[in-house]
Amino acid sequence: MNLLDPQSPSVWRDEFPIRSDTVYLNHGSFGPSARGVRQRQADWKRQLDEQPMDFFVRRLEPAWFDARRALGQFVGARPENLAFVENATSGMNVVANSLPLAPGDEILLNDQEYGAVQRIWRRVAEQTGARVVQVELPWPIEAPEQIVDSLLRAMGPATRLLVISHVTSPTAVTMPIAEVTRRAAERGIAVCIDGPHAPAYLPLEIDALGCDYYVASCHKWLSAPLGSGFLYVAPRRQSTIRVPYLSWGRLLPGRPETWSDELLWSGTRDPSAYLSIPAAIEFLAGVGFDLFRARTHALARHARATLAEMFGTVPGTPDSELWYGSMAHVPLPHVDASELQGRLWREYGIEVPIVEWRRQGFIRVSCHLYNDISDLEKLFRALHALLR
Ligand SMILES: Cc1ncc(COP(=O)(O)O)c(C=O)c1O
Repeated sequence: MNLLDPQSPSVWRDEFPIRSDTVYLNHGSFGPSARGVRQRQADWKRQLDEQPMDFFVRRLEPAWFDARRALGQFVGARPENLAFVENATSGMNVVANSLPLAPGDEILLNDQEYGAVQRIWRRVAEQTGARVVQVELPWPIEAPEQIVDSLLRAMGPATRLLVISHVTSPTAVTMPIAEVTRRAAERGIAVCIDGPHAPAYLPLEIDALGCDYYVASCHKWLSAPLGSGFLYVAPRRQSTIRVPYLSWGRLLPGRPETWSDELLWSGTRDPSAYLSIPAAIEFLAGVGFDLFRARTHALARHARATLAEMFGTVPGTPDSELWYGSMAHVPLPHVDASELQGRLWREYGIEVPIVEWRRQGFIRVSCHLYNDISDLEKLFRALHALLR
C-alpha cells in the first residue's frame, strides 16, 4: 500500500481514540494524542501519584531538562532558550508581561491574528499607553512579497514589536515568517511568532529564524497531551523576561538562576503533559515526518480542490506546500457559517470548523494520521446535501 496516496486507508486510525461515530477534521483546533503518548503521560502521572515528594523534589528537574533537550533538538533551538508553558496563550502572556513599552510605542498586528492574541496585546496597550496597529493583509495572496511589503509599510520609528502567526488561525495560511523576521530585525523591531500550529506541521529551526520570541502548543499537530506548550526567548531578551505568575522559580534551591527557571516551578501542578513531548516526537518520527506531512498535505489538498469546485469559490492562496500543509481553507458560497458547523455535527457526525473572517465564511479542513479519504468523502456528501 502506498501510504502517500491519499486514496489509501489510514493504518494509524486505531492509534487515536477518536469516537467511532465521529469524522474528526479539526486536529488544528484540538487533537488527541496517539496511544503510546497517552501511555507515557499515564506513566508520569503514576510516578507522581505513587510518591509525590520523590517525584517533585528529585525526579521532576532532571525529567524537565531531558524533555527540554528533546524539544530543542526537534524545534532547532538551544535548550537554554526554551521553557515549557501550558500552551501558546500562556507563552504569549509571558511575552506581553515582559516587553518594556512606553506611551506612543506601537505593536504591529494584522487581521489574520488569533482573536485571543489580539486581546492580550490590546490590554497591554491600555496598560502602557502603547498603540496596537492592525494591518489589513493582502487577500487573496499570490506571492510572499505582498505580505512582507504590507507589514514593512506599517513599520515606523515607533514600532517596537511585530506579532505574527506562523500558520494563521482563520485561513490556515503559512506566513513567510523568515523574511518578515529578517526585515523587522533590520529595523531593530522585536518579533514574536505565534506558532501553535507549527511543531510537526512544518520543519522548525527557531534559533536560525532570528526572532525574539516564539510561542507554540505541542498539543496541536505534534499531538502531545493538552498542556504542553513552549516559549522560546532569544538570548538577547532573556534578562528582561518577567513571568506574570511568580512562584519559587526552582523548588530547590528555591531561587531562579536563569530566565527559564521561573517557569520550571511555577506552583504545584501536573507536568506530565510536557514531560510526554519526547514521546510525541518519537511517535511521529517513527511514522516519519516526511511521510506524515506528505500524506496529510495530499489529503488537505484533495479536500481543498474538491470543495472549491463544489462551492465554485477560489482559495485565497496558490495551491502549494509553501502556503498550506495538513490544513486547508476553502471560501464558502453564501451560507450561514455558524448554522453549517452545527448541522454537520448534529446530522452527519462531522466535526470541522466553519470560520468567519472579513465577513466571508470559510471551511478549514485539518487532516491528521487517523484521517483518510473516506472521511473526506463523507464531508463532501454531507456538504453536497446541506448546500443543495
Ligand atoms: C494562531 C493561533 N494562535 C494562538 C492559539 C492559541 O493556542 P492555545 O489555545 O493552544 O494556547 C491558536 C489556537 O488555535 C491559534 O490558532
